[in-house]
Amino acid sequence: MNDKPTPTDEPEKINDQTTLDNIHHVNNPVLDLPQIEKKYLDGVKSYTQSESTYYFSDGMAEVEVKIITDEIIRVRLAPQGTFLEDFSYAIAEKSHRISRHQCIEEEDAYIVRTNTVTCKISKRDFLISFEDREGKVMNADHSPMHWEENPDAGGYYVYCTKQANSNEAFYGLGDKAADLNLRGHRFKNWNSDTYAFAFNQDPLYKTIPFYIGLNNGDAYGIFFDNTFKTYFDFAAEDATKTSFWSEGGELQYYYIHGPHMIEVVRGYHSLTGTHYLPPIWALGYHQCRWSYYPEASVRRIAEEFRKREIPCDAIYLDIDYMDGYRCFTWNKQYFPNPKKMIADLAQDGFKTVVMIDPGIKVDENYWVFKEGKENKYFCRRGDDYFMEGYVWPGRCQFPDFTNPEVREWWGTLYEGLVEDGVAGFWNDMNEPAVFGRGTFPDDVRHNFDGQRGSHRKAHNVYGMQMVRATYDGLKKLYKNKRPFTITRAAYSGTQRYSSVWTGDNMATWEHLKIGVLQLQRLSVSGISFCGTDIGGFTGEPDGELYTRWIQFGVFSPFMRVHSAGDTRDREPWSFGEDWEKICKKFIELRYKLLPYIYSVFWEQTRYGYPILRPVVMLEQEKQSNWPREEEFSFGEKILVSPVLNPGQQSKIVYLPAGDWYYYFDNTPYAGGQEHEVKTPIDEMPVFIKAGAVIPEYPVMQHTGEKKIDELLLNFYFGQGINKSYFYTDNGDTFAYEQDIYLEKCITCSSGDKSLDVKQEIQGLFTERYNNYNIKLIQVPFDIKKILVDGKETSFEKDEAGIYWVKVAKDFEDILIRG
Ligand code: GLC
Repeated sequence: MNDKPTPTDEPEKINDQTTLDNIHHVNNPVLDLPQIEKKYLDGVKSYTQSESTYYFSDGMAEVEVKIITDEIIRVRLAPQGTFLEDFSYAIAEKSHRISRHQCIEEEDAYIVRTNTVTCKISKRDFLISFEDREGKVMNADHSPMHWEENPDAGGYYVYCTKQANSNEAFYGLGDKAADLNLRGHRFKNWNSDTYAFAFNQDPLYKTIPFYIGLNNGDAYGIFFDNTFKTYFDFAAEDATKTSFWSEGGELQYYYIHGPHMIEVVRGYHSLTGTHYLPPIWALGYHQCRWSYYPEASVRRIAEEFRKREIPCDAIYLDIDYMDGYRCFTWNKQYFPNPKKMIADLAQDGFKTVVMIDPGIKVDENYWVFKEGKENKYFCRRGDDYFMEGYVWPGRCQFPDFTNPEVREWWGTLYEGLVEDGVAGFWNDMNEPAVFGRGTFPDDVRHNFDGQRGSHRKAHNVYGMQMVRATYDGLKKLYKNKRPFTITRAAYSGTQRYSSVWTGDNMATWEHLKIGVLQLQRLSVSGISFCGTDIGGFTGEPDGELYTRWIQFGVFSPFMRVHSAGDTRDREPWSFGEDWEKICKKFIELRYKLLPYIYSVFWEQTRYGYPILRPVVMLEQEKQSNWPREEEFSFGEKILVSPVLNPGQQSKIVYLPAGDWYYYFDNTPYAGGQEHEVKTPIDEMPVFIKAGAVIPEYPVMQHTGEKKIDELLLNFYFGQGINKSYFYTDNGDTFAYEQDIYLEKCITCSSGDKSLDVKQEIQGLFTERYNNYNIKLIQVPFDIKKILVDGKETSFEKDEAGIYWVKVAKDFEDILIRG
């Protein structure tokens, strides 16, 4: 072991009190205990195979190399030769198609091969590397996997150190408030309640131990599925190394092959699942505040929206709706008849969403506490005391959501609120947050689905298991209706149960920028359904900041305004008429784009495509794109670059290769270059990809209005062949699982003075309207004739040079001739 490289990649601190050094000093030489030191894998001595899994041994430690798919390989380390139970909260229960694979022994290495990836295990030093079919090394160990015994808690600190190439870029890792490219940074994953967090503050609320490496333009992913406190160092300590390590659990990671970034993200989704399909109302505009109460003020806000004709689908009730902050109760003084209020709001097209926290008030007269106590559902300390801590209601105990029985129970608690008509639930403080000390102490015990563990192991999944219990419970209570949930804390895989928001941000321009980084990052980290507190949670935005944030909100997958209780009003009309007008225009834009937005969500749910795609993901081969942070696409066809500075008159925007149209006046722009774009306050840089077909709804006050007599289709002329997909269904049930939906593909092929359009439709849903109203934008020739399914059809041209033609919604082909 002496010739092993000196490790320099360990954390300076293991936790807040203990350094690696003082752990060494607990060895007692008198008793002649073995010295605790970092141990590295030695050379490979033997290997065995069992179906799609290969085991390599150095005589003591074992390494498992498991083929998951052609593109995904899992590596695990067992320092003493015994693997831990193969259990994961992150991995969706899905069987993967096992592909062809083999292991070949060469003189100096074992070569495990799938159709796509070659995994090399060097015999001499156990270094593991991954190559593509052409032998290009995508990712390779810098030192062999290593570990160090943890005499206090048991188990090991486990380490993996990879080579970092000199210009390798890194993306992912969830909600980190740092540069988009993570290179040069070190991060810790430990879900934390971080009110008014700062740029580069770490850790934050979520743990997504997944990153994408971009190595000379080719991408791969690493998912370190370990729930303990984990660390990532992206060439920060040493420019030639990228390391990840954990304070416990198993060194277990998945290598996900690209070479395209988007395929890496899809691969990650194939492991951890995609977002459930939200009800369409969840994609409208949502108004939140800490807090709207009493009932009269909730009603007033709702009326105001309708009076001013500003679309809105949901109103939120923060903690004050509860009786003394007891979850699942109503404050009857503020809300004497919640059922009636919710029904009236629903009549007017508003869904009611309410907050539920994990802290349950210690109160023998409170049914939730009593049930939890009787059934032993609350978390206990190492010595069996209850885990007690102060949160909003005062002294609280906390359900152990890692216990399946507790999750089942928790899911049933929503029954009353669901009967009252509540449509969505907001799970907060689930890092878990405790006033004073921040979170639970490490010795708290958890069931961990029968795997047992202390809080060291369960902390990072606590919030995820809470919202899982919420979602699963609601699914039963709503019968065939799709639930809507939001969570603040998350671990990989949380997308299967919830949307997320980025927590308690601030009303500053810097935070608007941080939000733009966080939502792109969450999206490439498997959590596409994400949003910020629009306007900033704490502090006071002025009208300009609020309005620019609303503009970014239109292109945030989750669009909700929220603010802290000690701030001034935050409704779209709170900053005066001029700002209101612009906010209204942009909220209306969100509603016009809803059929497109809903289709993008379907592409996430069904096919695992991320919703927000940073420019680097669109054109990863171009090195100049690697540091770009402000341009991103929403789905495939719309590219935006939010305005992030006060008084900004113009902005340099990079457009990826191809042709684009400026949304607000259809001016064409050439891609593959930067442009200086004017940014008047009532517009923002929004570009539509040439060749795209964007479906558009009329402006509605809420999604339930369904006043669609015909569907407007915006055809943006493009050269060559372009495909656009859209999706529709009834908007809020699970009927799509029985194929009651429509997935349409419209293909536009342009020629010299011609445009041929074909439509293919799949699925069994029947839409309410009969016709499309087609708007042909920027057609570069004079249209002489339009044939729809062989029949000549009349069309019109307006003063702006746009052609209009009405066609039956189930047309098969349209021939447009100049
Ligand atoms: C937390 C949440 C915030 C909420 C507040 C009161 O700070 O992050 O969104 O308004 O608690 O419930």
